[in-house]
Order: sequence, then C-alpha cells, then structure tokens
Amino acid sequence: MQKMWTGRTSGELNEFANDFNSSIGFDKKMYKQDICGSIAHATMLASQKIISDDDRDKIIAGLSGILADIECGKLLISDDAEDIHMFVEAILTQRIGDTGKKLHTARSRNDQVALDLRMYLRDENAKIKNLLLKLIQTINSRAAENTDVIIPGYTHLQRAQPILFAHHLLAYAQMFKRDYLRLTDALDRMNYSPLGSCALAGTTYNTNRQMVADLLKFKGVTENSIDSVADRDFCVELLSCYAIIMMHLSRFSEEIILWTSSEFSYIQLDDAFTTGSSIMPQKKNSDMAELIRGKTGRVYGDLMGMLTVLKGLPLAYNKDMQEDKEGVFDGVKTVQDCLQVFTPMLDSMKVFKDNMLQSCKKGFINATDLADYLTKKGLPFREAYKLVGSIVSNCVTQQKTLENITIEEYKKMNDLFDNDLYDEIELFNCVNKRNSEGGTSKEQVIKQIEKIAEFIDNEKSLY
Ligand code: ARG
Repeated sequence: MQKMWTGRTSGELNEFANDFNSSIGFDKKMYKQDICGSIAHATMLASQKIISDDDRDKIIAGLSGILADIECGKLLISDDAEDIHMFVEAILTQRIGDTGKKLHTARSRNDQVALDLRMYLRDENAKIKNLLLKLIQTINSRAAENTDVIIPGYTHLQRAQPILFAHHLLAYAQMFKRDYLRLTDALDRMNYSPLGSCALAGTTYNTNRQMVADLLKFKGVTENSIDSVADRDFCVELLSCYAIIMMHLSRFSEEIILWTSSEFSYIQLDDAFTTGSSIMPQKKNSDMAELIRGKTGRVYGDLMGMLTVLKGLPLAYNKDMQEDKEGVFDGVKTVQDCLQVFTPMLDSMKVFKDNMLQSCKKGFINATDLADYLTKKGLPFREAYKLVGSIVSNCVTQQKTLENITIEEYKKMNDLFDNDLYDEIELFNCVNKRNSEGGTSKEQVIKQIEKIAEFIDNEKSLY
C-alpha cells in the first residue's frame, strides 16, 4: 500500500522496517472509535464551513459503510496498512474518491490516536466497572448466606480470633469497591477530548473542539494542545488501577487455593472451575485461581512497561508512544478475563461450615476473650495476658482446650475465675461481643452487607 505521507521521502520503506513501524496488528481494535471520531470531526468541519455539507454527507456515508462492513466481516482489516487511522482513510478514499482526502483537514494522527485510545479505553473500562460491580454483588450475597458461619481469623497465618466467614469475604468487597471508585476517578480525569490539538500546536482553521467533544460524549476539551498529544497519563493511571485489582484478586485467589487444600478443607470449588492431573487421579486443582494469581505478574509488567516507555520522553509526540497500546490492551483483557472467571467461581463454591468451626475449636482463638474476662474482673491486662498464655501452653502439652478445663482447675490458677467464664469464651459469643463499628459481630456484619448493597444499587442507578 502506498504511504500517504509520501512526499518529503520516497515512502519506500525497507521491508523489515515497514513491519517494524506498523501498528495495525494491534491498533485495529480501535476501528470503531477511529470511525466514530472521524464522523464527529467531519460533522464539525462542515458546521464550521471548512468542508461543504455535501462532502460531509459523502464522508459520513463512506465511514458508516466501512464500519458496517468491518462489523459484518465483509471488509477485513489488512495488515498492509501502517495503522488503523491510515487504513480507514485509505479505504474511504478508495470508496468515495477525492472527497475522502478532505477528512484529515485540521487534524493529525497525533491527536487522532490520542482520541481513539481514550475512547477505546472508556468503552472497555465501562465493561470492567460492570464486572467489578458483579463481583462485589456476588461477594455480598455469599456473605449474606454465611452470617452464622465462623472461621478462625488469622494474623501471620496463625489462628488469631474467631470471625464470621461473611466478615472475611466482605473485606474483599471493600477492596473491590475502592478499585471500582478508583477506576471511576481515573475515567473521569481522562474524559476530555484531545481532538483539534493536531500535530502539537493547534490549527489555523476555525475549528470547534467543543462540538466534537459533545458529539463524542466527552466532559470537555483538553486545555493544552502539546499536553494533549503527549499525554499518556491515563494509560498509566488505568494500568495502576488494573495492577491493584489484580493484587486484590491474587490475594483472594491465594486464600481460595489454601482453603481448598485438604489441610484446610474450608471450601470446594465447582468442577467447572478446577482441573485434574494427567497422572494423579485424586487431584482437583484450583487452576483458575492459580492463573489469576500468576497473571497478576503480567499486569504489573504492563504498568512498568508503560511507565518506562514514557520516562524521559521529550515533548510532544514521539513514536515511542506507539508502544503504549499493547501493554494497556493486555491489561484490559487480562483484568476482564480474570474477573469473568473469578466471579462465577466464587458464586458456585461450596462452603464447609463444619470444617471451619472445627478449626476454630483447635486454635485457642478465644484466648483473648479469656484474658479480657479476667481484666474485666480487675486483673491488669498484662497479668491476665501472661496467665492465659501459660494456661494455653499447659493445654498444648496436655492436649486440652480452654473449654474443657474444669472450673476447679481454673480456680486453682486464679480465684477471679468463675462459671460465667465458659459463656465468655463460647465462640459465637466471642464473635458477637465484637460489636464495634466494622467489627465481626453479626449485627455489624449485616450493617456492612446493607451498605454494600446500597452502594451497588446507587451505582446501578447511574447507568
Ligand atoms: N500508530 C501511531 C501510534 O500509535 C499513530 C500516530 C502516528 N503519528 C506520527 N506522527 N507518526 O502512535
């Protein structure tokens, strides 16, 4: 295909350099945004009398035809073109003749690509937000089903204090809620149209940038033409959001992997989300969760790649910036894929509440409550802590639990102990006493569920 920029040079590229220079292999994803951006641009050009209404109609009809033909598979995007912008313009000119050559008036590929990428990411991130909302909703309903299920809460992966399983799940709902809001913020910040900034300095034509921004549903226009074509902060911000989402997914995945092991046996994943081993017949592996944990690394890589491409780049556009797309596209796809697998996996997992309760009984997770009991009866906390520590240590050697030490034995150790201690260290009581705001009591957990439900309803009403 003859280069459109033939003129200053022969346009005859070395074959390898030609492929090396080309981005169509990956930027063809943005065909729709490119065409919609061009339709808005042509509409503005005509309204500003830069092109005639007749030319506008021809251009728009041509572009609409190209879009329809790509969508139905009639027109294949060939890898011969340098990029998607050149491809669309070349086909347009092939189809409508010289009028097609007027489309690029008062525009450059530099502002065009900045526009297309923002629009593409805006569309794809709306999908990510939707997937995040579904995940939060799933967590919330799994939590609502499990407000009477106790598990050991861990610190240092050692059993610490009893908590509701719902409470543990809801911790993730909070993380994904922040991820959702972070994405909303980032999308808000990038929702300004750069079109009309042209190569870098603006244009001599009497354009109307606001009109293009309105047609394409941007909040407004970018304020500095140089920044507009050189800025890829929005890619960095989005990739940071993706890296954080993946970090959260990887923590949740890790717990799911642990919980499915025979050592924990807290949950079972549905067969649809597990795989077998080619040699060990007994295996049921949590491959999906492991893959999500693994893919977190590649999204961190996408973020580092993007930051490094931009590091030290002089203003304004440099071809280095063509390297923005593959990383950010990979981040988008990876996050979408991971969310699409994770949510139904969580939705269908079986919870073994008896096993959860059994491990609560083994880990002295009510020791804090026993120390608090003594403290409330007047013993300074440090002394109570020490005494309970030695009681636990004796229990370990004698293979006892705090519940099955007799009151006589307790009294020998300290006469503040009385029969009411057993109530105090009963596991459900331990949970429900932790009724501070955000705590693990059933009352607090139900409040958390209600707040998340409110958040979801509110966000849904905005769509
Ligand atoms: N394919 C290019 C990119 O992705 C489009 C912009 C080209 N601009 C230029 N001045 N060569 O960045």
